[in-house]
Amino acid sequence: MYYDEETIENVRAANDIVDVVGTYVQLRRSGANYFGLCPFHNEKSGSFSVNKNMQIYKCFGCGESGNVFGFVQKYENVSFPESVRILAERAGISLPEPDYTPEERLRVSKKDIIAKINKEAATFYYRLLRSPEGEAAHKYLTDRGLSEETINKFGLGYAGHYTDGLYKYLRSQGHSVEELQITGLFNISEKGVYDKFWNRVMFPIMDIRNRVIAFGGRIMGSAENVAKYLNSPETDLFSKSENLYGLNLAKHSREKFIILAEGYMDVIALHQGGFNNAVASLGTSLTERQARKLTTYTDNIVISYDSDGAGTKAALRAIPILKNVGLSVKILNMSPYKDPDEFIKAIGADEYRKRIESAAQAFDFEAGVLEKSHDFENVDEKTKFDHEIAETIAKIDDPMARYNHVEAAARKYNIDASALRDEVNKIGSRMKAEETNAKAKEAQKASREKKAEEGDTQRARLLLNTITQNKNAYECVKDVLTEQDFGSGIEPAVYIQIRSEYDKMGLAVGARIVEKFTDAEEQSKVADILMTSLEEDMNESERRKAFADLVIGVKKSAIERRIDEAKQAQRGEELVKLFKEEKDLDALRKKLMTADI
Ligand code: UTP
Ligand code: MN
Repeated sequence: MYYDEETIENVRAANDIVDVVGTYVQLRRSGANYFGLCPFHNEKSGSFSVNKNMQIYKCFGCGESGNVFGFVQKYENVSFPESVRILAERAGISLPEPDYTPEERLRVSKKDIIAKINKEAATFYYRLLRSPEGEAAHKYLTDRGLSEETINKFGLGYAGHYTDGLYKYLRSQGHSVEELQITGLFNISEKGVYDKFWNRVMFPIMDIRNRVIAFGGRIMGSAENVAKYLNSPETDLFSKSENLYGLNLAKHSREKFIILAEGYMDVIALHQGGFNNAVASLGTSLTERQARKLTTYTDNIVISYDSDGAGTKAALRAIPILKNVGLSVKILNMSPYKDPDEFIKAIGADEYRKRIESAAQAFDFEAGVLEKSHDFENVDEKTKFDHEIAETIAKIDDPMARYNHVEAAARKYNIDASALRDEVNKIGSRMKAEETNAKAKEAQKASREKKAEEGDTQRARLLLNTITQNKNAYECVKDVLTEQDFGSGIEPAVYIQIRSEYDKMGLAVGARIVEKFTDAEEQSKVADILMTSLEEDMNESERRKAFADLVIGVKKSAIERRIDEAKQAQRGEELVKLFKEEKDLDALRKKLMTADI
């Protein structure tokens, strides 16, 4: 860790987790917790909770949990040091420049290394494009109508004539082969190391924080026997299914909608045409994660996929994904032109703007596609269409909109209105039943898992939680509880940390305790423990009894475990001692029942 503990603690203290999470997720308060829709899995009920006292979050649906750094790491897909930087910036805290000793350097996460090398690679490509070697590449781009300003804005570059140009350059900058290997920019085999990209126009792919996370490289001219575009493979830094090309720019747009296109060139042409709110999913079909990312910046999407069959299919696939995360969706018609790039080049940005205004509602687009693919002169085909349009209408959430669409479709497509209504209702009930079923299954699974967790571990966890939240409770039991009492999982380590926090700070802050565990999985487990609290609405005597039950329960099972061991090893003396300890628990219970907690 190359920020010292004090710095990290300052940053944490300046970033209340409820505020931070609240900027990404809509939260509503309920008791000590805040609830919202989990940003890490798709859900309709809010199982995502944030605890202000503990400064940690947990999703009861998918199990994700952690402190504010953990949240930012997960949400922004960044390393721990980066999460510190983001949150420091947010709170206006300036961080000491971390200087790397060779050992520290090793510890810096792979992501940081890749980001740094990618940036150097982007600079390398950028300079080459503007050098004599890049003349043809530069001409290719300007011939395609890109202005100098646009080329610069997107940091376009050229990968050079040689198959090891980048490799030699980065080696000369002091990067090791191991470092270069994890960037995905090289093909490494026994024959040697070669640049993955050469003689291609380069498109750096940035994430929302303007880090270069990957590259796309296009051959100049038409593709015959080679791939038109090559892209960086998935790396520790780059996940294709999470990022959207152009979002780093589009997120600053003041427009109320985002234009979703297919490719690099579409985004670039749109921005050049004045549409600074364009992004692309880069040739792969849109994912739920990408859709969810878009919800951070807008409520409205205008899909501007290619007007060919593939583009239409991709749009039909994207619509439900976008709608499922709550976005409203329109589809822009570019015909007779193929894509935004071609459209704007042919008839200009003003015409494109008009097409945005006349973009079709998702439903009308879906209905239009259905209509085109069925021959109404053929009775069977027409009937098939009627069923499919009913299916499409049934998916509309708003009951009034659904009613209106039934009436309108019945008129427009000459379908018996009451038959259509019945069919839509039938499909609707079927879908609802399926949804209820799925929910019930999920709930069943959750309750089974909860039961399995009950018993020793659950009790140990509740106890740890209670003594973290309640100093008096801790004082009551600190002399009778040892870490061995907490079994063999992560719980003993948590107890040790709680104890050391009380010793050092006089109080135990959940987020600080989480912090002491460096492994993300451990952190999540610890956060889990700290979120597992006793019922809140208990009166004093109920609370006391519950606490006594916990302490005695934990002690008792620990003693029983040790008795078993002593019996097996035939250690008589120890057995006698343990039996006495067990008996003393009665006195301890009495003491706890009158304790001031
Ligand atoms: P397109 O073929 O529509 O590319 O593919 P484009 O962006 O319009 O580029 P130009 O105008 O032909 O130069 C859309 C996207 O699909 C991905 C790229 O991300 C591209 O931008 N793709 C396409 C690939 O990754 N590899 C390919 O071989 C082709
Ligand atoms: Mn295209």
